[in-house]
Amino acid sequence: MVRKNRLPKFPDDYLADKAIEYDSSKWMERNQKKSTLHCIQYLFGDRLNDQKDNGNETGDSLLILDLGCGTGFSSDILIQNGFRVIGIDILNDMLLKAREKKKASKEYDSLELILADINNLPIKSNKIDHIISISSYNFILYGIDNSGEKFKLLNDTAKYLNKILKKKGRIVIEFYPKDDRELKMFNKSFINNNFEGYMVKSNPNQKSGQTYLLLKKKM
Ligand SMILES: C[S@@+](CC[C@H](N)C(=O)[O-])C[C@H]1O[C@@H](n2cnc3c(N)ncnc32)[C@H](O)[C@@H]1O
Repeated sequence: MVRKNRLPKFPDDYLADKAIEYDSSKWMERNQKKSTLHCIQYLFGDRLNDQKDNGNETGDSLLILDLGCGTGFSSDILIQNGFRVIGIDILNDMLLKAREKKKASKEYDSLELILADINNLPIKSNKIDHIISISSYNFILYGIDNSGEKFKLLNDTAKYLNKILKKKGRIVIEFYPKDDRELKMFNKSFINNNFEGYMVKSNPNQKSGQTYLLLKKKM
């Protein structure tokens, strides 16, 4: 059962029957979709778009990369809002559900699904308009204990994300860092790799908990 009072654990809570439970949870669907709508607002909102730089224009031809797309709740909201979407996830069990949805409706023709690791993306340079990631980015450190290795991986990934984004590309990440130290590490990986931006905490008194990183490529 996907319970409301704790965060799912990767990968156990997303495998086989758990992937089916995840996809049938109305609570999960509501939350993933709500966070995705916030991400879209942040992508095109005032904080990242100052008067000098309006970013890539909003419109139905923009290509959004959905990192850790799971069973496709976040991708669905992006499609409903007129974007083309590449959804990537590391677990086939989760992607199976997303693929069923794509097969069932022509609405999803503009959705491409790829089995891949966020840390090793099969995407060409300068291809993506914007990137979002909902409740997935914290998992990219899974299985790594050494902080030097963690930092290297975060750094390499942020560098690659910069490379695949077009000139005015933005990234909005909704995630759950474990603590303040981990949050700083994630932040630093982007600042070191030519991004600038903001952080928004759903509960400013919490050190961990739901956090949005709003990032744009430096010009
Ligand atoms: C909360 S779920 C998916 C949320 C998704 N936004 C949705 O709408 O269903 C988190 C997802 O992150 C994926 N994930 C974890 N680590 C990953 C990695 N290194 N690369 C790609 N996906 C990853 C998991 O397989 C899982 O499907």
